[in-house]
Amino acid sequence: MVAAASYSIQATSSVASARIQLKPQSDSLSSSSLSFSSQLQPCSIKSLHTTRQLHLQRVSAVVRAEINSHTMEVDISLSPRVNSVKPSKTVAITDQATALAQAGVPVIRLAAGEPDFDTPAAIAEAGINAIREGYTRYTPNAGTLELRTAICHKLKEENGISYTPDQILVSNGAKQSILQAVLAVCSPGDEVIIPAPFWVSYPEMARLADATPVILPTRISENFLLDPKLLESKLTEKSRLLILCSPSNPTGSVYPRKLLEQIADIVARHPRLLVLSDEIYEHIIYAPATHTSFASLPGMWDRTLTVNGFSKAFAMTGWRLGYLAGPKHFVAACGKIQSQSTSGASSISQKAAVAALGLGYAGGEAVATMVKAFRERRDFLVNSFGELPGVKISEPQGAFYLFLDFSSYYGSKVDGFGVISGSESLCRYLLDMAQVALVPGDAFGDDTCIRISYAESLTTLQAAVERIKGALVSLQPAVAV
Ligand SMILES: Cc1ncc(COP(=O)(O)O)c(C=O)c1O
Repeated sequence: MVAAASYSIQATSSVASARIQLKPQSDSLSSSSLSFSSQLQPCSIKSLHTTRQLHLQRVSAVVRAEINSHTMEVDISLSPRVNSVKPSKTVAITDQATALAQAGVPVIRLAAGEPDFDTPAAIAEAGINAIREGYTRYTPNAGTLELRTAICHKLKEENGISYTPDQILVSNGAKQSILQAVLAVCSPGDEVIIPAPFWVSYPEMARLADATPVILPTRISENFLLDPKLLESKLTEKSRLLILCSPSNPTGSVYPRKLLEQIADIVARHPRLLVLSDEIYEHIIYAPATHTSFASLPGMWDRTLTVNGFSKAFAMTGWRLGYLAGPKHFVAACGKIQSQSTSGASSISQKAAVAALGLGYAGGEAVATMVKAFRERRDFLVNSFGELPGVKISEPQGAFYLFLDFSSYYGSKVDGFGVISGSESLCRYLLDMAQVALVPGDAFGDDTCIRISYAESLTTLQAAVERIKGALVSLQPAVAV
């Protein structure tokens, strides 16, 4: 079925640029705007035509501009793939907080997903030396043999999984590794099984692959861990990929080995099903919790695509380095995508990553020091929010996030602000009233919660808690817990 949508057009033109705003007159369409600039002579917009094909979710428009005597048509339609993807809310709130900070508002930013620590000196030095020594050329697409060999050694020693360098693909961040894996193994119509709360990008990556995200909710009372019975009940012949993230962003939950074994038993009964195990927070884990790599479980090596990276544990977010380990057939397919998009990762970062893996077991002293600080912060936040009426907590066992259930505050009405109707309005309220930037849980598939990143100093966290408590005084928990 094809439905036409009409738009009101506001157009202005000047010598250098033209800005057109498309305002849908149908409620079912979201507003969009575009701007383009022209190096050419003044142009006038003669006509603009927009249609929407519902089944393809395709918004198309043609702009015809007359430039002197030439007529130029610009098709401003976007791929249905792009139209199906939601922009990241974590980026939106971070941008909003940054704008406030730049305007002089003393915002405490606890929305970002990156450590506040500097990259350990030995790693940074290795990067600097790489530049000094002229190690600045393209590397092989899959990454240097030196780094892939070091990764194989790490995976064997720390995770008990055997790989050869041709089963490793080094990418520009773990994010690229995950996207490439999803694109490589999913066919249109396949289902990607994602336990919620999830890292914001998983469902969108599934959509980019024309696959369907199937979201499986978990409960805070069960530490946000996937119920194997629920998993089993949702698997079909279309199920292609199960994405597990442990330790988890946003909940900090760590999957115990026993539970992973139960999940592995179910996976083993579904021949088409693969598992993408996102282990990027592996080293940021609080004893007695321990990390188990899914690929190390009996029978799971052939089914598992293990993703890891250097951003979190080694405080290397800006170095953009991650990797995928898995059976050669899948890794080679991901490498093919990478070879036609970005090619190999930064040569300098790869030298730094070799140094990171050389710091010792689980990152040695440098990583242990950061993990100790994260743990102190976690304990402080869990105790502080534990005192607040109506807040539910599942104590994180890893990563650097706290995912708090504030839903008992929903429904509160605040003079001059309005009703706190869910996680997004609560975060807006806390940004307005307490000047603390947090991320609404609905971005992670759970509107009952909000995410606090504790990748900030204890002093900053203490100030944030005081501000949040102050702002919550005006709200009444609807249900006593
Ligand atoms: C769960 C999870 N996986 C993957 C990534 C991507 O990390 P990278 O910086 O290596 O791309 C992130 C970053 O926030 C993350 O939280």
